[in-house]
Amino acid sequence: MKVLVTRRLPETVMGRLEKANEITELRVNPHDRTLTRDELEEGTAWCDILLSQLVDPVDAALMDCNSELKLIANYAVGYNNIDVPAATERGIPVTNTPGVLDDSTADLTWVLLMAVARRIVEADRYMRGGEYEGWAPTLLMGTDVHHKTLGIVGLGRIGFALAQRARGFDMRILYSDLELKPYAEEVGAEYVDMYTLLRQSDFVSLHPFYDKKSHHLIDTRELREMKRSAFLINVSRGPVVNEKALVKALKAGEIAGAALDVYEREPAMEPELAKMDNVVIVPHIASASLETRTAMGNIAVDNVLARCRGDALTTCLNPEAVG
Ligand code: DGY
Repeated sequence: MKVLVTRRLPETVMGRLEKANEITELRVNPHDRTLTRDELEEGTAWCDILLSQLVDPVDAALMDCNSELKLIANYAVGYNNIDVPAATERGIPVTNTPGVLDDSTADLTWVLLMAVARRIVEADRYMRGGEYEGWAPTLLMGTDVHHKTLGIVGLGRIGFALAQRARGFDMRILYSDLELKPYAEEVGAEYVDMYTLLRQSDFVSLHPFYDKKSHHLIDTRELREMKRSAFLINVSRGPVVNEKALVKALKAGEIAGAALDVYEREPAMEPELAKMDNVVIVPHIASASLETRTAMGNIAVDNVLARCRGDALTTCLNPEAVG
């Protein structure tokens, strides 16, 4: 089978692909950038298996470049870049990489939460800028995290892993979700509706599945429901938050700050965010540890090789598509 890898993956993962007998030809994006639409279409028309990234829009038109496409293996747990129903209609299985990035993503969420609360990025800039003239009682005072209320919007695997971390900080934990999660009891998380969560939380962390229903889940009205002293953290998908509304809320002091890993129109972001000291911004790196990105790659490769051999796929999103 001919396999297209739309962006180079960690070395051991590439090694597996390069050595696999099941793969007759391997084409890897030679550039240090995302493929253009034309390149993606040309590559899709060429390959049997597409190993895609979350930034590749795998829509019906792309699938129609190749009526023989055998698999779309997405290198991400999120798959909002893929039109899965269109793939199912065309008999193309789609796989993702669940389960292996929950802890790394929760770790990074925690880093962002702590960083924005305790003004770590500002403090680092301050030191590097040579501004430190000695200890002072009110220098760079932040906000405590321990014993505060954490609101988790979406208590899936990542939200749960975040709650586990919050317990070590003696936090009260609230969550909202489409349904009650029985495992919430294990971490002492209390189910409330989203508006109660927004009103009561000191930190609101977003972990919903992104689809049409969660588009702009956090907008002007929701930001106004939050405490003026509260912080918003988003590591899910950018469009869960109306970014322009967030900028307005921050400027108006309606919330105390924000920490973001994802943006509404990545790689762009609202430029004002970069000018605000109470905002911590990182470039979609929640799962970016060598171990986790390798584990994600291994799942994608397992699926690629299974498809080559005609074996069952380990993480198929649309099993009904497999003929
Ligand atoms: C995902 O997998 O969906 C993350 O956004 C990147 O790891």
